Amino acid sequence: MVSFTLNGVARQVDAPADMPLLWVLRDVLQLTGTKFGCGMALCGACTVHLNGQAVRSCVLPVSAVEGQQVRTIEGLAVGDQLHPCQRAWKEFSVPQCGYCQSGQLMQASSMLAQNPAPTDEEIDTQMSGNLCRCGTYPRIRAAIHRAADIAKAEHVDLKAAISGEPTK
Ligand code: FES
Ligand code: FES
Repeated sequence: MVSFTLNGVARQVDAPADMPLLWVLRDVLQLTGTKFGCGMALCGACTVHLNGQAVRSCVLPVSAVEGQQVRTIEGLAVGDQLHPCQRAWKEFSVPQCGYCQSGQLMQASSMLAQNPAPTDEEIDTQMSGNLCRCGTYPRIRAAIHRAADIAKAEHVDLKAAISGEPTK
């Protein structure tokens, strides 16, 4: 049995200790917003937050999240309040097929919590592990800048925004 907090709610799951967190999320808990791409920490499709840090859930054994805070794309919005990245993604129509985008959003929102005003170079570096076969990279970069602008204009606390707490 593994106990952890998932999107702000205490959960207990009966799963083998070495089962990847991604399998637990998708197959045990039916949270299918987090995607399987490579299964080898190479594409970023499975990105979730572990204590606010972006991690690849396909290679993270569920035993590693015992007692920790996990957040998935299903928990990125707080109630009906979208994260600034989600608002910017919608505004710029970032997704094409959409498959990579939950991972992109989790990576971007974690990055902005650490660095609320990244340069193009910092965005490219931080997002380089999240692949998009549809080539939405220019829109992702523009949307990250837009999310940073939204947060600044509206005094959104980008750390709180990925913790499930009120952001203003
Ligand atoms: S599925 Fe985890 S990095 Fe590709
Ligand atoms: S939007 Fe299709 S893989 Fe990224």
